[in-house]
Amino acid sequence: MTAAEFHRTLADYSPTPVHELRDVAAELGLDAVLVKDESNRMGLPAFKVLGASWAVERALREEPGTRELVAASAGNHGRAVARVARLRGLGCRVFLPARSLPVRREAIASEGAEVVVVDGTYEEAVAAAQVAAAAPGGLLISDVGDSGPAHWVIDGYATLFAEAAEQASYDVVIVPVGVGSLAAAAARHGAEASVRVIGVEPDTAACLTASLAAGHPVAVETPGTTMAGLDCAEVSAAAWPDLSTSIHATVTVSDAEAAAAMEELAVHGLAIGESGAAPLAGLRKLALGGGRILLVATEGQTGTHPGAAPRDT
Ligand SMILES: Cc1ncc(COP(=O)(O)O)c(C=O)c1O
Repeated sequence: MTAAEFHRTLADYSPTPVHELRDVAAELGLDAVLVKDESNRMGLPAFKVLGASWAVERALREEPGTRELVAASAGNHGRAVARVARLRGLGCRVFLPARSLPVRREAIASEGAEVVVVDGTYEEAVAAAQVAAAAPGGLLISDVGDSGPAHWVIDGYATLFAEAAEQASYDVVIVPVGVGSLAAAAARHGAEASVRVIGVEPDTAACLTASLAAGHPVAVETPGTTMAGLDCAEVSAAAWPDLSTSIHATVTVSDAEAAAAMEELAVHGLAIGESGAAPLAGLRKLALGGGRILLVATEGQTGTHPGAAPRDT
């Protein structure tokens, strides 16, 4: 069974919409600007449940005695794992970095998971989750590293691109990059469908840009960004092989540029968060000069921006 076949069996599953921004295309001299809108993915405000649900399905086949799912996440992945745990009647513990926002902590707790705030960075939250998952009955569902789940998360994201290929035609996909799992799924799709894939990173967390320049994964300093889902110091080992061969280019954006893109999407009636708006910010910095562009707007509004609508809980 493929991830897409599995997702179709889930009660809350349906393909997310693709919107067209005609005036942006005209302004930038492009043939089309399309937005894959992940603001409501199986009732959650981000695409991440596609990866979490498939990773849990695959992992439970190998560890059927699992009683508690464990994850580390700055927000959306943790909430997705918490939701999947609830649907499957499993316990869940989610480890968050110190600078995770209270609004995101509450969203994870609202799924019934135990939230543990680690006095440290995202990478330290990952380490704490690893220790916790080693207890009997524990199962780590990580979207970073080289474990089975880290690979299955990427496989799960393939559903997003399978949908997009049925919904629209495009020659370039622009995706936001945190640890690069989504970008790896995009890269596989790009290689199969002859579509160029461009990754967008915060200028303060550009680990893929640095790794591609070095020719191997390197860690960067992460002083912080409002694009919380992209605030990652290192690419995932599971993602690197596809990233290193099949990403066409990367572009970095500032928090101010992401905020402006968020406002612009809101004017078009699309309620998208900072990380999800990054591809539009990236598009505005690239001189593509033509083509049909698909932007992956990976999340709904996070409720962290002054002008934001109430968050989707
Ligand atoms: C909203 C959003 N967009 C994009 C990403 C980046 O995905 P990845 O970490 O797989 O690169 C994340 C990751 O958490 C996210 O939450």
